[in-house]
Amino acid sequence: MSTAAERRDPIKPAARVARQNQDVWSIVNEAAAASPIQPIVNMGQGFFGYNPPQFVIDAAKASLDKVECNQYSPTKGRPRLKKAIANAYSPFFGREINPETEVTITTGANEGMLSAFMAFLEAGDEVIVFEPFFDQYISNIEMPGGKVVYVPMHPPPNGSTTTSSASEWKIDMEQFEAAITPRTRMVVLNSPHNPIGKVFSREELLAVGELCVKHGIIILSDEVYDRLYYVPFTRVATLSPEIDRLTLTVGSGGKNFYATGWRVGWLIGPENLIKYVSAAHTRICYSSVSPLQEATAVGFEEADKHDFWNQSKREMRAKMTKFNAVWDELGLPYSDPEGGYFVLVNMSRVKLPADYDFPPHVASRPRDFKLSWFLIKELGVAAIPPTEFFTPQNAHIVEDWLRFAVCKEDSVLENAMERLRGLKKYIH
Ligand SMILES: Cc1ncc(COP(=O)(O)O)c(C=O)c1O
Repeated sequence: MSTAAERRDPIKPAARVARQNQDVWSIVNEAAAASPIQPIVNMGQGFFGYNPPQFVIDAAKASLDKVECNQYSPTKGRPRLKKAIANAYSPFFGREINPETEVTITTGANEGMLSAFMAFLEAGDEVIVFEPFFDQYISNIEMPGGKVVYVPMHPPPNGSTTTSSASEWKIDMEQFEAAITPRTRMVVLNSPHNPIGKVFSREELLAVGELCVKHGIIILSDEVYDRLYYVPFTRVATLSPEIDRLTLTVGSGGKNFYATGWRVGWLIGPENLIKYVSAAHTRICYSSVSPLQEATAVGFEEADKHDFWNQSKREMRAKMTKFNAVWDELGLPYSDPEGGYFVLVNMSRVKLPADYDFPPHVASRPRDFKLSWFLIKELGVAAIPPTEFFTPQNAHIVEDWLRFAVCKEDSVLENAMERLRGLKKYIH
């Protein structure tokens, strides 16, 4: 029999949830709550400051009146939504996607990716992730026992002095190939990219895809911003039948229809990959929210009728252009996004007062955390420090940058711009 001393503290958390560092969202939210300037303009987290389009809202309301929409959906998703997605995406993929075998519905893209890692990783298997990365990838890979292997993306050489296209953030293909080992099972791609705003070119995707074919690596292509691109957009799955055979493409109803709280996502891919993702998803959460799957199906069915996709892209592009004018005005360079709704701004010319009183948990973090704290406290604008999306050894690459989300009402952007003009006196 074990003694009390030998027994584990009953409330000691598992290592996977007991991280030391306070996460970026809680630091930013804490600063926002404590700022003397209220209410804060929150351009930090990538949630929308406005509602989904009316035809999608109406569909959500109507779905609650249908008996079957208030009950369990099939574990792989509602047939109507799988069909709507297959219909919407077959033209992009250049082939007929089978809604029954090649699409599976998940609880947001995030749980879809967790299901994909759960489906294919054994303990110790490696997954290559490019830095910067969407932070959820890491725990999603580590929970099933996977090991993350990081490969940094390199910023534009003149990023601290000149505004340049987000396309100038590059993967060093030799570094990528050197990271591949016999244990590499998967690689995560993200295009359009959060936080960089890069849309990977056909050539870049082909280079990555061909190496994955050569080494037998599954590609998890996170394309949640797939409707927001301002340059030609290529889907890696379409580059060759060999690449398609290894690719799982991830989508998000939350991002597509401005409804991040709905938690509707999906994966598209060949049957022999999708069936295992579905199996993992069934074990994780059984099935996903029924009425909002139904509403997302209507969203896809009716989007073209409302010219929604063109309008969505046009509006987001206009928000981006409108907001970035303030950086041109202030003379602060930014990485001009090719897609998505984030912009990275280089703040190396912003001089923080030497005697500024940062709390210890901010003072101990890279300079971008201090910049973020300072902007919240002094100007009342929240942005995200992007070193959070890097490993400590590569954090220096982005310690002068901040990420702003422009998916907000125009009046909010105007308010933010007015406040950000207050940076003038700190710019040297
Ligand atoms: C790159 C990326 N992938 C996935 C997600 C998660 O999408 P969802 O809300 O559908 O889980 C996000 C959300 O911010 C994201 O930025």
